[in-house]
Amino acid sequence: MTDTSRRIRFMLNGRPVSTRAESHLDLVDLLRRFNLFGARESCGQGLCGCCTVLVDGVAVSGCLMLAQLVDGKSVITVESLDEGGTLSHVQQAFVDEGAFQCGFCTPGFVMMTHALLRENPNPDESEIRDFLAGNLCRCAAYPEIIRAVRTAASRMRSPQAA
Ligand code: FES
Ligand code: FES
Repeated sequence: MTDTSRRIRFMLNGRPVSTRAESHLDLVDLLRRFNLFGARESCGQGLCGCCTVLVDGVAVSGCLMLAQLVDGKSVITVESLDEGGTLSHVQQAFVDEGAFQCGFCTPGFVMMTHALLRENPNPDESEIRDFLAGNLCRCAAYPEIIRAVRTAASRMRSPQAA
């Protein structure tokens, strides 16, 4: 059988890594090889957002992206969002607003919220809904999620008031 793997090198949560990746391997399964389980695979079809990670700062569905395509790029996962054990503003806001029940979708929402607030620090409710439209929560914690995004945005704009 033809070996379709090739060596890739990329930045993973701020540190350089290298591994061999088969041509069919997706990004979520690549992350598993580095013991990163925060990006969840649910639908496997780009429909739910549970597998969201940032690639060169852009939110992508890890289940749809081939691992070989991250060669030379920077990948950020939910595991790296805290700062020295302190939750990021987004993570803390999700906790404070109770923006989850089972938590399965939460890493995807948190990553997507980071991407949103990076590009729009003060989104209104309709902008939040639009941006998060590709993320599904089976527990329907949407009202709390919206509140968490607004709380995180407010704290990030005025961190001293947090
Ligand atoms: S598992 Fe990737 S979008 Fe649903
Ligand atoms: S908290 Fe359960 S799927 Fe969102």
